[in-house]
Amino acid sequence: MTDLYQRGAAALPGGVCSSTRFNEAWGKPVYASRAKGARFWDHTGREFLDMSMSHGATLLGHAPECLRDVFQQTWEAGVLCSLDTEHHIRLAERICEIIPCGERVRFTGSGSEATLHALRLCRAASGRDKIIRFTGHFHGYHELVFIGGHPPADQLDASPPFRESAGIPAAMAELIIPVEYNDPEALEQTVTKHRDDAGVILIEPVDFNCGCILPEPGFLELARRLADESGMILFFDEIQSFAKKSPGGAQFDFGVMPDICTIGKSLGAGLPLSAIVGRAELMDRYKPVGDVAHSGTFNAPLPSILGGLAFVETISQPQFWSTIESLGARLFAGLEEITAASPVPVRMQHHGSRFGIIFGTRDPVTNYRQSLVHDREQMLQFCRETTERGVYFHDYGGAACHHGYSLAHDEADIDRVLNVMADSLRAMG
Ligand SMILES: Cc1ncc(COP(=O)(O)O)c(C=O)c1O
Repeated sequence: MTDLYQRGAAALPGGVCSSTRFNEAWGKPVYASRAKGARFWDHTGREFLDMSMSHGATLLGHAPECLRDVFQQTWEAGVLCSLDTEHHIRLAERICEIIPCGERVRFTGSGSEATLHALRLCRAASGRDKIIRFTGHFHGYHELVFIGGHPPADQLDASPPFRESAGIPAAMAELIIPVEYNDPEALEQTVTKHRDDAGVILIEPVDFNCGCILPEPGFLELARRLADESGMILFFDEIQSFAKKSPGGAQFDFGVMPDICTIGKSLGAGLPLSAIVGRAELMDRYKPVGDVAHSGTFNAPLPSILGGLAFVETISQPQFWSTIESLGARLFAGLEEITAASPVPVRMQHHGSRFGIIFGTRDPVTNYRQSLVHDREQMLQFCRETTERGVYFHDYGGAACHHGYSLAHDEADIDRVLNVMADSLRAMG
């Protein structure tokens, strides 16, 4: 144990503030000292080219210039806590212009908070308590959804579904109905079976959380049709897919409009901000118009809202998307060459500025069951090899998850990432 880890472990469980910050590949947490642009420095001063970018939250880069004004403006406005401002209204207006299903917005801090409050709304509006969700998708760590998402292979068909943490009551699992993604028959049968007790179809339209699985053509359309026919609410969890390929998120990218969605991660330009966005009729069920409670002392703090305005203005510029696209074209063409030449079987799938790495196969992965071929040990080794060479791939406990670049990366960074990835894979062969 390093000194800092020893101190950390004595003060914080596992030495971390978020359980997944413990880096299994390193056998210890990564402690940072500072970050700028596409780089961060650990507490020993070691520099890393960052391919996590705060899981997608710092899409504008670490410490983007626009945040300087945000902090200054916040200070001048008196920091303001627990009060809304014209800025809040302006950001909600801008989000409604950008997100296809957007007519009303409620801000939250984390993505987990957003899905929790959105699901309460869905239950109130549908009058049905059960949730149809997909294996492999992730919607946060709370009791309503940390169930049936990533079961181990021997729990795939468990009924009630697998609870992903100790402490989640068994009764909660009775309310969750997991379905395999991209399986139209399974979805159709499930909706038919549960048309009287399930009120929502919850989808992570691009399943970034198990290696970046895209919806098969027609699958989201089917979910839309089935929701309409059964009176269920179609809920896209776009916490991650928002602003990855276009400002409008996956609902724009794939042309299917949900009734409600959640957006987050990069929304606050690196400051904590997420939002529930949806049709007016649905969203106006929130108090004080309707009967669904959603309140909090720290809801929508001013710095996050100003960060949100800065972010939305940045992604409204065509240059933002031309940069993201040209970096992506370079990176993804390179990844194809690297995976073809890799001595160990590996598959990389991408959408917008993020991509997944799945070890153990070279074939397309289209659902969770297929993703179980992923070799966790190889992923851990890959994280060790790349970080040793100065490029940081975040370790999700060896899982196939997602990685990505930001506006602050340049072509030289992308070339370096490609070289390091190729060298690392060769070293693993
Ligand atoms: C699709 C999706 N939903 C919800 C969440 C939870 O968001 P947060 O980590 O901000 O609580 C995440 C986070 O990775 C996510 O990717």
